[in-house]
Amino acid sequence: MTKTLLVTGAAGFIGSNFVRMLVKRRESVKIIAFDKLTYAGNMANLADLLGDQVVFVKGDICDPAAVTKAIEDYRVDEIVHFAAESHVDRSILGSGPFVQTNVVGTQVLLDAARAKDITKFLYVSTDEVYGTLPEDQPDVKFTEETPLQPNSPYSASKAGGDVLVRSYFHTFNMPLLTTRCSNNYGPYHFPEKLIPLFVTNLMEGKQVPLYGDGKNVRDWLYVEDHCDAIWTVLQRGAFGEAYNVGGNNEMTNRQITETILKAMDKPWDQFVKYVQDRPGHDRRYAIDATKIKEHLGWEPKFRFDSAIKTTIQWYRDNEKWWRDIKSGDYLKYYDTQYAGR
Ligand code: NAD
Ligand code: DAU
Repeated sequence: MTKTLLVTGAAGFIGSNFVRMLVKRRESVKIIAFDKLTYAGNMANLADLLGDQVVFVKGDICDPAAVTKAIEDYRVDEIVHFAAESHVDRSILGSGPFVQTNVVGTQVLLDAARAKDITKFLYVSTDEVYGTLPEDQPDVKFTEETPLQPNSPYSASKAGGDVLVRSYFHTFNMPLLTTRCSNNYGPYHFPEKLIPLFVTNLMEGKQVPLYGDGKNVRDWLYVEDHCDAIWTVLQRGAFGEAYNVGGNNEMTNRQITETILKAMDKPWDQFVKYVQDRPGHDRRYAIDATKIKEHLGWEPKFRFDSAIKTTIQWYRDNEKWWRDIKSGDYLKYYDTQYAGR
């Protein structure tokens, strides 16, 4: 029998790529794409997918009535929970919406899932819940046993959701799963995040703002690999477990910037502007993804050197998509975030 999946945050970057992947692979699921359409939610990410298999419902995960109605109306079996406020810099400008959506919204969803006997619930967490790693010990990486030590209001709110999931498993024995992934890149990535911001700024002939000394390290994973890992955990993961997901692809922000400049044929001196660092900026993230490989057989399939080119080409081919975003409120945000920095 075809299952019905409620996908929260389905109009965002990773949620829409997840829905796209399931449709492309002809997976036998009906998808209820549930999204509040905040500044980061975009119907253009989903429009070509809507039809018999994919239905869109506009709603807020913090609203118990809206969540329960969607579950009842569509007889939802399983939930994949992406919806979140996701940008660290915005959480530094104001943490209220982060606590509301990422903590309270997750609690509302868990309670609804419990009341309606949802058969599986996957919480899309992040590697940022672990805090930061030393630069001078390259062998040290985040494992699922690493204590949660979040350092930004964003990561603290994601850790709040993460430990709520843990507590609902232990207290109510619910069918809960957690994934903790590293930095994603790919199509439909909102152009406030490093890679799409830098690619689109360069297409506009603008400089790119590199924080601090540019030596912070992130472990980059192509978004389709993350979506594939989530699907794998949903199919075969053990309830109550968390699974790290990563690309084994640590790079400094300088290296990322050099790669983008080279692919776009732009000189460093003219286009890179070092700016004041992000407050509390985590120095290094790196994922040990041994558990998901050994227990569930998942490994990344995309190589960074080719997937970053595919990504840049996507922004070249979809100028209207990002130019529509980089207007109005976005420009106000950009000014607040970068002016005088
Ligand atoms: P995004 O900001 O692109 O999308 C978030 C989506 O959630 C948007 O469509 C937005 O409208 C929706 N949303 C926000 N608040 C909502 C609410 N109250 N009710 C319903 N919908 C709401 O984020 P993303 O980069 O796609 O991240 C998705 C998830 O993956 C997040 O939980 C994030 O923490 C996690 N994650 C992201 C990354 C990454 O590199 N982007 C890595 C690891 C984990
Ligand atoms: O690690 C997973 C996390 O990755 C996710 O949980 C978050 O939702 C996602 O936004 C991302 O967080 P980061 O803070 O790592 O991503 P961001 O693209 O904002 O920044 C990546 C690195 O680039 C970071 O070290 C800060 C730096 N940076 C970022 C911006 C926006 C710059 O140097 N300049 C910039 O303008």
